[in-house]
Amino acid sequence: MTDTDNTLPRAVVEAKDGRRYTLRPIQPSDAPSLMRGYQALSPQERWFRMLHAVPELSEAAAEAFCTPDLTRDFCLVLEGQDELAGEILGGARITGEHNGRDCEFSVSLRPEVRGLGLAQQALRMALQLAAAAGYQRAYGTISRDNRGMINLAVLLGFNIRQDPDDPACVIAEKTLTP
Ligand SMILES: CC(C)(COP(=O)(O)OP(=O)(O)OC[C@H]1O[C@@H](n2cnc3c(N)ncnc32)[C@H](O)[C@@H]1OP(=O)(O)O)[C@@H](O)C(=O)NCCC(=O)NCCS
Repeated sequence: MTDTDNTLPRAVVEAKDGRRYTLRPIQPSDAPSLMRGYQALSPQERWFRMLHAVPELSEAAAEAFCTPDLTRDFCLVLEGQDELAGEILGGARITGEHNGRDCEFSVSLRPEVRGLGLAQQALRMALQLAAAAGYQRAYGTISRDNRGMINLAVLLGFNIRQDPDDPACVIAEKTLTP
């Protein structure tokens, strides 16, 4: 994706406090803000996001994250306001598998804007894009300790089951319909 990419939609979403936020595709110039946002997560939240120890995002990792493979992946981010103007607040990502049927979701939000329904709206829109692109199943691996993410997945209609490969995690999965 380039900074002028217009192939994915921009949307305005309303938070629970009545504020309106722009939700748009991630772009390469978001990399420095992505790194700052990752540092704003607590160590446990970084673990929840990555499911292994990644104390900080390298520049290379952030740049790669900000240039998704648009033939398979979607990544939507929320734009910050006021003291977070110019920053991205986080958002939702869909990573498609080569089989064209399955895709993995991930979601993350800066602590300053939690509890406002923003992660839910970002993930809903990313899942709609995935369904429209023809993916039939979305899934994500979630730490058992991550009650917030498990609740969010249940709210969005995901079924939760034990991860057969890791007793510390569950798999959230959902059939997508266009
Ligand atoms: C999980 C995360 C994305 C939720 O972000 P958020 O914007 O606060 O979530 P929302 O406000 O959209 O919450 C939607 C619903 O999810 C559930 N939920 C979210 N956070 C919750 C929490 N801390 N405790 C309980 N339920 C929670 C609730 O059902 C909530 O609905 P409600 O507010 O009407 O009760 C955020 O906490 C985060 O970034 N965590 C760190 C990274 C992470 O764990 N990512 C997931 C990796 S799989």
